[in-house]
Amino acid sequence: MTTVLNNPLRPALLAAARSPRLEATMSKMRITRQLVDRFVAGESEPEAVAAVRGLLDSGRFVSVDYLGEDTTDAALAAATVDAYLSLMQSYSTLGARTPALEVSLKLSALGQGIDRDLALENARTICAAAEHAGVWVTVDAEDHTTTDSTLSIVRELREDYPDLGTVLQAYLKRTEADCRAMAGPRSRIRLCKGAYNEPASVAFQKPADVSDSYLRCLRVLMEGDGYPMVASHDPEMIDAADRFALAAGRAVDTYEYQMLYGIRDGEQKRLVADGKNVRVYVPYGNQWYGYFMRRLAERPANLMFFVRSLVSRS
Ligand code: FDA
Repeated sequence: MTTVLNNPLRPALLAAARSPRLEATMSKMRITRQLVDRFVAGESEPEAVAAVRGLLDSGRFVSVDYLGEDTTDAALAAATVDAYLSLMQSYSTLGARTPALEVSLKLSALGQGIDRDLALENARTICAAAEHAGVWVTVDAEDHTTTDSTLSIVRELREDYPDLGTVLQAYLKRTEADCRAMAGPRSRIRLCKGAYNEPASVAFQKPADVSDSYLRCLRVLMEGDGYPMVASHDPEMIDAADRFALAAGRAVDTYEYQMLYGIRDGEQKRLVADGKNVRVYVPYGNQWYGYFMRRLAERPANLMFFVRSLVSRS
């Protein structure tokens, strides 16, 4: 099976994910939009809220991400904060709270690349509003050059907001140690394989090594005192989560499964029918390019579908 890291086009696609020129070209193509719709809930807040309502009705939890990353403009970072505040106001119409409702943040969209403390204060504003609204917050993981800064911001914020969650990426060699350090009471760690182009000096390169690392990290989290969030579509990781939770004597509501909007919908529903907590990561907004390219890089079949659509149109 071709999975996340053994796609030969992956490095090129991930490099393209950071190209403003390609972004401008692709954003104008109508066919791109059709495939984007599979992975993104819409460009506007009402579209995102409609998707959330449907997922909640089906028994799933949600985490909504206002798309955007690598912001170099403080005004744009402030606009991102406003988007989250407005989204959480709209959440109040849904008649749900934690654990069903969550938002996910990228610190680079909140100004981390401009000034670490700007991102910290922007994230703090969102955490304060989320606490008031009864909404969980989880901080996404970006490329490895940001990991130390991100984890230090999360540690600082957790002093005031102990339920703040964070993402750890199993492809990073450091992550097993980070899991051990962070699996304490009230921690919420979302464990994923990792979606960026990382060098061999810091990250496992072979899919089998990434999976092995994921399993080691997952075991640490399941044996810990926190709330593990199993973010993977991989059947092997999903089965292992069940086994590790059982071995650790965990009740079914002390951990959850997470998948991305538009991916393995049937499996999400199967897990819900089996009594499991399942959260769907729901991205929305017009800055979808980087997110979309990472989804293409993950799966050659997605890329082939895109290329075939282009060819059949031309
Ligand atoms: P893997 O890639 O091995 O896929 C297993 C199977 O899942 C595939 O065979 C296919 O059936 C299906 N699948 C996987 N990706 C697919 C796709 N794009 N389209 C269609 N089918 C697909 N990464 C990161 O670096 N930082 C982050 O903050 C996050 N956040 C995050 C949140 C949540 C809730 C999830 C589920 C994932 C992330 N990720 C992430 C992405 C993650 O790192 C990883 O790139 C993808 O989840 C793919 O890895 P899998 O574990 O699913 O396995």
